[in-house]
Amino acid sequence: MRTALVILAAGQGTRMNSDLPKVLHPLAGAPLLVHAMKSGAALAPARTVIVTGHGGEAVAAAARAHDPDVRIVVQDEQLGTGHAVAQTRAALDGFDGDMIVLYGDTPFIRPETLAAMAQARQHHDIVVLGFQAADPGRYGRLVMADDRLERIVEFKDATETERRISLCNSGVVLGDSGLILDLIATLSNDNASGEYYLTDIVAAARARGLSAGAVTCDEAETLGVNTRAQLAAAEAAFQARARAGAMEDGVTLVVPETVFFAHDTVLGRDAVIEPNVILGPGVSVESGARIRAFSHLEGCHVSCGAIVGPFARLRPGAELAEDVHVGNFVEIKNATLEQGAKANHLSYIGDARVGAAANIGAGTVTCNYDGVFKHRTEIGARAFIGSDTMLVAPVRVGAEAMTGSGSVITEDVPDGAIAIGRARQVNKPGLARKLMQKLKDARARRQN
Ligand code: UD1
Ligand code: CA
Repeated sequence: MRTALVILAAGQGTRMNSDLPKVLHPLAGAPLLVHAMKSGAALAPARTVIVTGHGGEAVAAAARAHDPDVRIVVQDEQLGTGHAVAQTRAALDGFDGDMIVLYGDTPFIRPETLAAMAQARQHHDIVVLGFQAADPGRYGRLVMADDRLERIVEFKDATETERRISLCNSGVVLGDSGLILDLIATLSNDNASGEYYLTDIVAAARARGLSAGAVTCDEAETLGVNTRAQLAAAEAAFQARARAGAMEDGVTLVVPETVFFAHDTVLGRDAVIEPNVILGPGVSVESGARIRAFSHLEGCHVSCGAIVGPFARLRPGAELAEDVHVGNFVEIKNATLEQGAKANHLSYIGDARVGAAANIGAGTVTCNYDGVFKHRTEIGARAFIGSDTMLVAPVRVGAEAMTGSGSVITEDVPDGAIAIGRARQVNKPGLARKLMQKLKDARARRQN
């Protein structure tokens, strides 16, 4: 079945008390909205339509950054979830198939759950995702007759008896897109909120003799974010699951609760992650690599056998080949370190290529930025960069070349050559003692 994914993201999110639209608040390094888009991807949607409102431009930009083909529609006034879905009519013009509706602030719906809904669609015209709520609170209630869904009643409109129902509406709905839009067109807003409720399509479908059913999922999947506290709770839930998942996949987390994952972290089997490591977006670590304590990684790749840290920083574009060592207080940005290269102490390597088995001495800096442009540094295989070398880019150090400690390298160094770019040392015999005596004498005169 062809499916269109519709994500509702027009709400203001007042309770976040933020200038940022709610769905753009990040969870595990990606906007909430992107989590919803990734959930919906389970149904391989033929079209994705995002309903925006408050902060529409920024929301549209974030959606396009994740999927350039998304269609954006604007709901100028938030007149209810039914009204929001109605705004997709033009964007779904010419589309024939099902529609799945998700919320942009609900990041945890699992692919398996959506697959179960698609399965249930074989028996029902409309399928709703429900959950048994520990505390049903103000959720809409699913009114069932045996295993058929009769209608959904919003908390505000529910009778005392209906409020005792613990089977609640998650908001996720699946059905033929043409049918859903037709049913919405018949809805009224004559209810306690004065809104067009998407939930009312169930009763409307039943009145036409169509069938509706409910699939249930764990309450944790339906967790929506309305407040900063709920955002923090969602982050904690994400991290707990990511840690457990990594360990199941054969990753060693020495102290799991101190390792932070991103939405797209990839860790190979037998990778070891020591305590207090932050994995930002876009990190992949191959099998057998070790990330030592207090390291911060984002947008980088660490190959098999590599050792990173403690206290290392890998920034976007850092590519570490097999058996590379990056030690304490070393920052790598947009640079490739080829097999067996080492930068063990206190260095900055940016916009560079470091050849296989090259050794970068302590305190080396690639001076890559002239204030306007970035320039590249090329270091050949087996080169030896002496401690405290400043490599003023653009510059190339050849294979098996060496630089003297403390050098400022402004010109290319041929293969196999030694480059020394520093003032020659001069020794003045006895002068240190003489100078010290002079200073002491001066102090004695002042004190008298
Ligand atoms: C909705 C459901 C309720 C369910 C609950 C689950 C309806 C009428 N009620 O209630 O049964 O238990 O979700 O969380 O559907 N939105 C728009 N435009 C609008 C209104 C809402 O885009 O005009 C978006 C919001 O940004 C949000 C989502 O739709 O992402 C749900 O809206 P919200 O106001 O939170 O619905 P609830 O009243 O919580
Ligand atoms: Ca809500």
